[in-house]
Amino acid sequence: MLGSRARISGWGKSLPERVLTNAELEKMVETSDDWIHSRTGIRERRIAGPNETTFTLAVEAGRQALRAAGTAALDVDLIIVCTFSPEFGGMPSTASLVQHALGATRAGAFDLNAACSGFIYGLAMAQATINAGMNDTVLVIGAETMSRLLDWSDRSTCVLFGDGAGATLLQSGPESAGLLSCVLGSDGSGGELLYVPAGGSRHPASLQSVEGAQHFIRMNGKEVYKFAITAAPRAALEAVARAGLSMEDVDLFIPHQANTRIIHSAAASLGLTLERVFINVDRYGNTSAASIPIALCEAVESGRIGPGDTVLLSGFGGGLTWGAAVIQWG
Ligand code: UT7
Repeated sequence: MLGSRARISGWGKSLPERVLTNAELEKMVETSDDWIHSRTGIRERRIAGPNETTFTLAVEAGRQALRAAGTAALDVDLIIVCTFSPEFGGMPSTASLVQHALGATRAGAFDLNAACSGFIYGLAMAQATINAGMNDTVLVIGAETMSRLLDWSDRSTCVLFGDGAGATLLQSGPESAGLLSCVLGSDGSGGELLYVPAGGSRHPASLQSVEGAQHFIRMNGKEVYKFAITAAPRAALEAVARAGLSMEDVDLFIPHQANTRIIHSAAASLGLTLERVFINVDRYGNTSAASIPIALCEAVESGRIGPGDTVLLSGFGGGLTWGAAVIQWG
């Protein structure tokens, strides 16, 4: 459908049942609830059980999104799973496994890795294929099992992240509502500020890589923090301008849920009061590519987003990458 607009017609989320509190972390590493909460805003996060994986979380979130939209799996043209903790190291893609489990037999499927910015990138790809008339119905899922990539003896990272999945169904619709703009960016010079050293072509898995704990996330928190407080609001401002709007028009800002200090700083830079900002990082920690779709889903379900509202999303993460999007809710 040429000239149509991609609108979000369904949403869903899936979170493991197991809650890991700051008090429990105090028994695992040298940390405290006070340190974690004051530096990050996090109180607890969800951790995948032995039978839960990126795939199982993604399927559940995707199923819910289809149900919310009242759309059959057979009508899905494309499935994009945004993740950097996929079901398998190389192939098959998590998206192909999800496609099969949902019975979306007409759909193409691929994984997209833009780390914590992944969901915004996924939205942009869905929008592009819908606007080009290539697809009508695209399922975009952000899903991560960060717990499998964490060194549970490294207090500088293990307290920050959590597991989960969020999904949105995008469908072509009339021009009056939908995705108004997307902005994407990357600066690979900061690649090693947030990365997993081994398991790729530079350092394939070996006895030494395992012994050296090289398959876990390493992060320079201070540098990522400095990057985040400039990149995320800059992308948000650009997305709002590209949509032909101003910050006063934004009804709800849904930032990547990494840290309340980063969220408060971004909101202040954008001139947004906290009533117009959605925060759930206290309950889930940083779920990377899943954080924005989980938050979007909770915002809709709790009535924070209603028809006609203008919603601003922004994310940042490893790569380094960043992105922002503006949605006119239908
Ligand atoms: O999706 C993107 C993902 N990444 C991010 O969003 C991370 C962005 N960065 C941050 O959010 C912050 O930098 C952190 C929350 C990671 C750290 O906060 P900070 O205020 O930058 O702390 P710091 O790294 O400067 O560490 C301060 C102190 C250090 O001790 P010394 O050297 O001052 O004695 C750390 O060793 O806090 C220590 N520390 C901890 N103490 C208790 C580091 N982690 C912990 C911990 N518990 N879990």
